[in-house]
This record gives sequence, structure tokens and C-alpha cells, in this order.
Amino acid sequence: MSLLAPTLPDLAAAVVTGGSSGLGEAFIRLLGRVSPAVPVCNLSRRPCAEKTGATFQSAVHHIPCDLADAAALARAADAVAAWLAAAPAGPVLLVNNAGLGSFGRFPGDDPGRQLAVIDVNVRAVVDLTARLLPVLRLRGGGVLNVASVVAYQPTPYAAVYGASKAFLLSWSLALREELRGSGLRVTACCPGTTATGFFAAAGLRGLPGAAMGAEDVARFALRAWARDRAHAVPGLPNRVMTWAGGLLPRTTAARVAALVLRRRAGPVLP
Ligand SMILES: NC(=O)c1ccc[n+]([C@@H]2O[C@H](COP(=O)([O-])OP(=O)(O)OC[C@H]3O[C@@H](n4cnc5c(N)ncnc54)[C@H](OP(=O)(O)O)[C@@H]3O)[C@@H](O)[C@H]2O)c1
Repeated sequence: MSLLAPTLPDLAAAVVTGGSSGLGEAFIRLLGRVSPAVPVCNLSRRPCAEKTGATFQSAVHHIPCDLADAAALARAADAVAAWLAAAPAGPVLLVNNAGLGSFGRFPGDDPGRQLAVIDVNVRAVVDLTARLLPVLRLRGGGVLNVASVVAYQPTPYAAVYGASKAFLLSWSLALREELRGSGLRVTACCPGTTATGFFAAAGLRGLPGAAMGAEDVARFALRAWARDRAHAVPGLPNRVMTWAGGLLPRTTAARVAALVLRRRAGPVLP
């Protein structure tokens, strides 16, 4: 943590989506530790988990929102704008973290799940960012998008999830260029397997491979944003994997990803 504090710019407020568990909760906990005076707003269906403690919870403003519901998101974005108007002046960090996965052969037995992945991982991120960007332009700060290592190649057996994260990475890099010179930082963090409830929520019976801790990943992501990195992959094995995958023709990368996914995720698929 001590390495993070000096590098995070002076934030006046932070908005985190999906702060009720996993990585989002870790982002909020770290921000609270580094900058206890900075108010944090969490957009998710549930509030921050009990285990984060009463003091912590009371410092986090929760705006309940199903991000898959476009009308609910529009109302929540208005509520965030009002909350920011009452927050101290200065830079704002928007962490687009909420997300869900879908695993197995497409379309699986719940095609609605595939559409929910697109709604939350893609549409909600674009919509919320578009609605808050005018405020960010006025106040400074930027956007931290939580993508995934699966963004770097097609991912059979997680086809829609992988494509949603590829969208997020590509969009994030493009947005960063459009905002060059504005003072706003845009970073895509691309974690590998992380020990959260993510896989259980997607119906998997365990973790596909070795996992990093949520707090390590969140710390890495905040540092990457503070250092104005365009995109960043936490963990050396994940970095090697994405680098090696990038050397292959895309069709070969898809084939290799199918073999790896089948071997690593096969035993835990529903
Ligand atoms: N865990 C991994 O291995 C891993 C690896 C790479 C990338 N990621 C990415 O990391 C991000 C966080 O995931 P996690 O690992 O922390 O998983 P998690 O523990 O399952 O947390 C997901 C969060 O997203 C929120 N969310 C999901 N659907 C939502 C909806 N319809 N409306 C509002 N909020 C919603 C959840 O809040 P509510 O349920 O309260 O609404 C929850 O707070 C995701 O974008 C995921 O794709 C995870």
C-alpha cells in the first residue's frame, strides 16, 4: 500500500461499479485505506459486503442499480451526478468494474445469460462512461476499466465473455487516444484468474487454475491507472501468456485458447 499512496493523484471522489464483492470491494477497501477522506460511491444491486465492516460501509454511498437495466442505469447515473455535485471539487476516478461471465459451449442452456454479459460488461460501461464523461472533463481524473486476460484472444467456451472483454480493451484504448491532452487518464486492467465469487456466480464448481488475490489485483490496477498505463496485466504468468498469445495468428490463438480453456476450465464447468 505504501507504494500506492504517493502515486495516486489527489482524488476528490471515486465511483466504483460492482463494489458489493470481489475486486470492486477490494478497490473500495484500498481507496479507503489510501485516501480515507475521499468519498466513494458504489453502483451494484447489493451494498458492500458485511465483512468490510460497519465503519467502512457507512463511508460508502450505495446507489442500488441493476446495470443490465438501461432505464435503471440512466436513473443511477443521474443519482451519481447529483452525488458528485455535493462531493468536494476535484478529480474523480470512475472504476468500471462490475461484470459477469458465461462459460461452456455457446449458447448454453441460458441464452439470456449471454445477453446479460453484453448488457453489463459492454453496454452499461459505455452508457455510464458517456453519461459521466462531461463531469470528468470538468473535474479531471479518469476511467479505470476492468477487462481481462481473455480480451487478448478469442476464448472458446467463454466466447461471449471473451468478446465482451475484447470490446472493453479496444474501446478503452480508443477512448484514451480521443482524450489525449484532456488530462484524463484511461486505463484497462486485464486480470487473469482472481479469487472472487466470479466463477461461482457463473456456475463453475471451482477456479480454473491458480488465482491471484483480489486485493493484489486491485492494487496493481490502481497503480497502473495512477501511472497512466494504457493497459496492464497483473501477474507475470498472465503477462507471459498474453504476450505469447499476441505472437500467434488469431486463428491459432483461438485454437490454443480452446485447448487451454478445455483443460483448465473443463473440470469445473457446470
Ligand atoms: N475473478 C476473475 O478471475 C476475473 C478475471 C478477470 C476479470 N475479472 C473481472 O473483474 C470484474 C469484477 O469481478 P469479480 O471477480 O470481482 O466478480 P464478483 O465477485 O462476482 O463481482 C462482480 C460484481 O459485479 C456486480 N454485478 C454483476 N452483475 C451486475 C448487475 N446486473 N448490476 C449491477 N452490478 C452487477 C456484482 O454486484 P451485485 O451482484 O451486487 O449486483 C459484483 O459486485 C468483472 O468485470 C470481471 O469480468 C474477473
